[in-house]
Amino acid sequence: MISKMNKIIVSPSLLSADFADFQGAVSQIEASGAGWVHMDVMDGSFVPNLTFGPQLVRDLRRKTKAFFDVHLMVVQPERFIHEFAEAGADAITFHHEAEIHSQKYLEEIRSFGLKSGIAIVPSTPCSALEEILPFADIVLIMTVNPGFGGQTIIPHCLEKAGKLAKIREKEGYSFRISVDGGINEQTAETAKGKGADVLVMGSAFFHDTDKSGLVRRLQG
Ligand code: DX5
Ligand code: ZN
Repeated sequence: MISKMNKIIVSPSLLSADFADFQGAVSQIEASGAGWVHMDVMDGSFVPNLTFGPQLVRDLRRKTKAFFDVHLMVVQPERFIHEFAEAGADAITFHHEAEIHSQKYLEEIRSFGLKSGIAIVPSTPCSALEEILPFADIVLIMTVNPGFGGQTIIPHCLEKAGKLAKIREKEGYSFRISVDGGINEQTAETAKGKGADVLVMGSAFFHDTDKSGLVRRLQG
């Protein structure tokens, strides 16, 4: 049985926004009723693309109280946790593949009073997370190979949501299951059916002309 504990949250990704107007993009997200704002931090090394750093979080924090869901796609993410926490992140998710001491840094994130998140790329099985699940508030399943928005989902990755939901139920954990990459209304419904409760959406959100309708249908 799939846990229905957590309310569904749509987390639109600024990666698909107009980079010359992030403040406007956050206003669009807030107006749509989406629960979180997803921020993809890329270093050109862990992934073949570059985006932005803590300064954007700091500047946007002054403009809004929205929940900032920061996704670090960087090598040695421990170098940046403190700075993103101080900048105003609400959740910090880093990649298990990029960090030797994941457990330690999930605890560090929580020590700042933030939600701790661990992410895995499509090649990493969710069994790799077994020992650290008690320390995670969010498990982010990449459903494309990270680096770019607008890619097509790798459907098999959604099976991980089902596996994690079963473990969550069995062990009494309460982490959220986030899916990220190629999520649109159709794939979101499949992901929800498997137990995902955070739907990261880049292009499908920013290309939709009825953003509130989209969010209402998915979060409802
Ligand atoms: C991809 C990022 C995603 C990206 C998703 O590496 O982690 O958050 O914004 O974009 P879409 O929804 O367009 O696949
Ligand atoms: Zn992301």
